[in-house]
Amino acid sequence: MGKYYGKKVLQEFLNPQNVGELEDADLVFTEDNPVCTADSPPSPCHLKLYLKIDKNRIGEAKFKLQGCVAAVAFLSKLTSMLKGKTLEEALKLTKEEILEALEQGIPDEKLSCPIIGIEKLQKELLPFLKKNSKTSKNL
Ligand code: FES
Repeated sequence: MGKYYGKKVLQEFLNPQNVGELEDADLVFTEDNPVCTADSPPSPCHLKLYLKIDKNRIGEAKFKLQGCVAAVAFLSKLTSMLKGKTLEEALKLTKEEILEALEQGIPDEKLSCPIIGIEKLQKELLPFLKKNSKTSKNL
């Protein structure tokens, strides 16, 4: 990591995957970035993440984001990596794994931006997983 965006991050930002809404999503959550590095409060950075869950697996993941290059690239990669994962696997996914998939190309000063996606995801997935494991044999 350093001062500039890496090639992989810029590719992901210029061609983001999984942007949009899922009308039949099983889990939708919104989040403002609590540690946004933008200058003017309140934070202008806002995320909406949609997950379609088929039995115990994430079938589809989409996002809408008002955020910086780092956050767009991170959410693009995060949603791509979530698809096909079981909920248990998704819960174990770390910020570091996604940064690694982006070849560590996010500048140091922007490393707090990806928190907008991963921390909220895990906060929301855990209760969903617990609730559904009591009501479904498939989970
Ligand atoms: Fe707000 Fe990066 S500056 S998400």
